[in-house]
Amino acid sequence: MSNPSILILAGDGIGPEVMDEVKKIMGWFDAKRGLKFDLSEGLVGGAAYDAHGTPLTDETMAKAQEVDAVLLGAVGGPKYDDLDFSVKPERGLLRLRKEMDLFANLRPAQCFDALADFSSLKKELVSGLDIMIVRELTSGSYFGEPRGIFEENGERVGINTQRYTESEIDRVARSAFELARKRDNRLCSVEKANVMESGILWREVVSKIGAEDYPDVELSHMYADNCAMQLVRTPKQFDVIVTDNLFGDILSDCAAMLTGSLGMLPSASLGVPMENGRPKAMYEPVHGSAPDISGQGLANPSACVLSFAMALRYSFDQGAEADRLEAAVEQVLADGTRTADLMQAAGGKPASTSEMGDAIVKALEASL
Ligand code: IPM
Ligand code: MG
Repeated sequence: MSNPSILILAGDGIGPEVMDEVKKIMGWFDAKRGLKFDLSEGLVGGAAYDAHGTPLTDETMAKAQEVDAVLLGAVGGPKYDDLDFSVKPERGLLRLRKEMDLFANLRPAQCFDALADFSSLKKELVSGLDIMIVRELTSGSYFGEPRGIFEENGERVGINTQRYTESEIDRVARSAFELARKRDNRLCSVEKANVMESGILWREVVSKIGAEDYPDVELSHMYADNCAMQLVRTPKQFDVIVTDNLFGDILSDCAAMLTGSLGMLPSASLGVPMENGRPKAMYEPVHGSAPDISGQGLANPSACVLSFAMALRYSFDQGAEADRLEAAVEQVLADGTRTADLMQAAGGKPASTSEMGDAIVKALEASL
């Protein structure tokens, strides 16, 4: 039997730097835990545009459809700000999400004990925080038609459409209910049913699934604006949150920052299972390409490393090895190793990107 396959798309900015550390860690799992992957690499975002004039070639798209998981670094940068919308780096990422049909985007916001002081909120509000945001990723206003900039009555009008079918709501809600069952059994569904028909439908569909198939999961509903407020007021009230594409984009950034650092947060985007039973999947850090610090060894590789841990858990059925990797990252933080993003203003010399990767490997080694 062939090894499970991973396509690495390091992308732009700090993407390649943090991905180098993940490759180091994959090397460790290969050598020490016998986890072998068939790795291939491709270009996405600005890197693909520079080489091919498009943020994602058809060949890379086809490759992404074939592999068991895609691991992505980051896309974008100021160099590409003036490009036509259709070839902007972000379009490559959105094409991957859409064509792979990765409808369930899992964004954990977890506060590591060693970093609780970093949050902009008081320590007691965030220490032990463990939220999972499930963001719908392939529909809603990111993709709804009609969209565009049109002429109307002698002026231009910009249009995007918020659109959800019952089945689109149904499938992402089920993913969220399933996750809630594996966690604290609580799900909060977020929309704006007070002003949007798509929100009314969203609430109806989620309620029905809850009542019929997940009566054991405690379901609540919240308007998105209130949810934003509650996230900064008492974030620990949440377990799993399920919401649409745009609200999920915004709320997940908000939840991420509660934990102190964007540099720590991974994500998984999951689609329907393939023939081998594995879900179509892409894993990526929540942070962006951070062009201001790229190329200087300042980036924190943890989010990308933890994204690989999510791949081990959700694509490769290696929950124990995922736990091992997450514990190694936590241990490194507890030991005081810090990349620049995790240093207090007055702190000493930060660890470089590769020193952080080495420290994680060392902690893995110590876990044996
Ligand atoms: C995210 C990002 C993307 C999004 C951008 C880069 C297209 O903000 O993954 O949250 O808006 O979905
Ligand atoms: Mg975002």
